[in-house]
Amino acid sequence: MQLTHRPRRLRRHPTLRRLVQETVLSVNDLIYPMFVMAGDGEPVAISSMPGCFRYALAQLLLEIKTIAELGIPGIALFPVISEQQKDDQGSESFNPEGLVQRTVKAIKSLVPDILVFTDVALDPFTTHGHDGLVDTQGRILNDETVDVLVKMAVSQAQAGTDFVAPSDMMDGRVGAIREALDAAGYPDVGILAYSAKYASAYYGPFRDALDSAPKFGDKKTYQMNPANSREALREIDLDIDEGADMVMVKPALAYMDVIYQVKMHTDVPVAAYNVSGEYAMVKAAAQNGWIDEKKIVLETLTAMKRAGADVILTYHAVEAARWLKAR
Ligand code: PBG
Repeated sequence: MQLTHRPRRLRRHPTLRRLVQETVLSVNDLIYPMFVMAGDGEPVAISSMPGCFRYALAQLLLEIKTIAELGIPGIALFPVISEQQKDDQGSESFNPEGLVQRTVKAIKSLVPDILVFTDVALDPFTTHGHDGLVDTQGRILNDETVDVLVKMAVSQAQAGTDFVAPSDMMDGRVGAIREALDAAGYPDVGILAYSAKYASAYYGPFRDALDSAPKFGDKKTYQMNPANSREALREIDLDIDEGADMVMVKPALAYMDVIYQVKMHTDVPVAAYNVSGEYAMVKAAAQNGWIDEKKIVLETLTAMKRAGADVILTYHAVEAARWLKAR
């Protein structure tokens, strides 16, 4: 054949492939989500998320040291509190001596260089399991919820968090939180907004991990319809207008087109959350010997970065960091 263009020429040798590789996954791209529980018991395995645990504070701190040594820049913290500490208002969420607040203080004094992203939403703290306050008819109250989220964010800032990460999807919460953080003297605490967060079945294992599945109804009046992508851009624009420093698309795997559109649409760093259900599917297939876990994970995370993610929250972070180091 008389071919002018032979794209395969650029693929003929490993060194050449390395030279022309467009996207390089790095440990610097990763945030590791972690679950903290009260007390001083042994780590509790999460059955639908093999390799993930609920850690009591002392064990969590040990883990975080390892994580920092691996070069992972940050962790996202999620609390598991007892049913007795939950109420319908989520009041424990802004207790200055609450589990998250105590944990953040301890992390920041022991491993000050790791970035801490604290979740802002009521679901781990409410008896009903919704991210917001609920009225007698089961409706999620937006503005009343924002008042609580603001208190929660400020108390996390007081504890020393680096970023608050509102994952609740209430309208106007980013602006309200920014204003309150500034007024309270925390202009340097950033906001990673879960801007395009979908009402997804992929969160199932996470809700097992936290015992936080909603007791009635679903989250469709606040989380987005998976069928929509223009709506994602609207949410992104609003959150950036209100002061978000980074924006997130969640989940990631089934939403690569949204990640790409958001990246094209904005200048702020884009995060993608490789959520619990995505993790569970990979682990289950790997445990059955049906896939090559390491290759699947590195391919998936690289693809998320190629799609536009500057930051990837993933439960694979620790293993991925080890694999990337060994490469
Ligand atoms: C809730 C929250 C959820 C996740 C992070 N924050 C679950 C939900 O919205 O029900 C899911 C994370 C995952 O599945 O890995 N505010």
